[in-house]
Amino acid sequence: MPVESVLELKGIAKEDKRAPYGYEISVEEIKILHKSHEDFPISKKYHGPDFLLQNRHLYLRSRKMQLILTIRSRVIQLIREWFTSRGYKEFQSPIFTSSAVEGGATLFPVKYVDGSTVYLTQSWQLYAEAAIASLGKIFTIAPSFRAEKSRTRRHLTEYWHVEAEIPFCDIEGLMKEEEELISFLCQNVAKEFEKELKELGRDPKDLLKVKPPFPRITYKEAIEILQKSGVKVKYGDDLGADEEKILASKFDIPFFVMFYPKGIKAFYHKLHPEDKSVTLSVDLLAPEGIGEIIGSGQRCDSYEELIERIKEENLDPKSYEWYLDLRKYGSVVHSGFGLGLERFLMWILKLDHIRDAIAFPRLINRVYP
Ligand code: 4AD
Ligand code: MG
Repeated sequence: MPVESVLELKGIAKEDKRAPYGYEISVEEIKILHKSHEDFPISKKYHGPDFLLQNRHLYLRSRKMQLILTIRSRVIQLIREWFTSRGYKEFQSPIFTSSAVEGGATLFPVKYVDGSTVYLTQSWQLYAEAAIASLGKIFTIAPSFRAEKSRTRRHLTEYWHVEAEIPFCDIEGLMKEEEELISFLCQNVAKEFEKELKELGRDPKDLLKVKPPFPRITYKEAIEILQKSGVKVKYGDDLGADEEKILASKFDIPFFVMFYPKGIKAFYHKLHPEDKSVTLSVDLLAPEGIGEIIGSGQRCDSYEELIERIKEENLDPKSYEWYLDLRKYGSVVHSGFGLGLERFLMWILKLDHIRDAIAFPRLINRVYP
């Protein structure tokens, strides 16, 4: 029968250590359920990444994709378990939005039914900040969209975003939640998928090491470390993939980078009370050159400071009227984070490219199949 034909076999299953799955069947009866066409495009010979992406609908059947997508499914279950066991409620925000959260450069415009332009969501955050006043601490697992114009190993145009928003929580409390969630996921995946991780080239011991507290450095220290390593970077520059890669090679578990200057962070971050040139922001970077997996911070809770930041960033305060209202009526200290699910999987499963962390990746040059 051609490969990928579907058969029903009856016989005796016997344990055999040499068999790939540990068992062999001595077949007594065969029923053909579907005879495949002869020309199944994927064979044992080397296929380039473009060919495998073009045939993604069939490549999903490969052992590699099966392992990755199985662990991905479990990770999503574990995330829900972790949040709900700690009293978080699950909350959904709209996908069509009228304004930017994370800067205009990666906004995805869509022609709306009334002819106006709306944007696909970059993050649930602004809506989540409205909802915490009603629900308390909340989380979501939902797609986010970024019109990323550069071709990199770690950017998708559509990715799954695990986000949380927490009232009465400052940057300290925020970092505790992040390190506990990440450790919980690493510990459970390492224990439940020992064999599968090894097959993917990841030593489960690497994940068992991931326990709080995670190391912390400030943005300023990060710049100093980079300069000492000979990188041409100056205070105030954003950390790109190359810089993060060098930083991340210095740690073997995830680590926090705190207090980025306001010039390179979104308008909603609270300014540091002792140095108003930096924000109470914190990114979590994964080791082994992966870089940022979480973006997060304490939110600006003052009406005056927020309106000033919106103007400083040349945004239109009119678009953010409803968001500003949240600072007029019962504003509280609050913080939140966003974890890129595929970035996280890319790290824990030791994948070379983010495209393999999702079944049908949306990339700068690909939306087929
Ligand atoms: O750092 P970002 O832009 O932060 C936010 O969107 C916040 N509003 C989240 C929040 O506080 N609720 O994005 C968060 C994470 C990044 O750390 C990264 O892991 C992932 O989202 N991410 C991407 N993953 C894949 N492809 C892309 N193009 C991504 N852009 C961001
Ligand atoms: Mg970020």
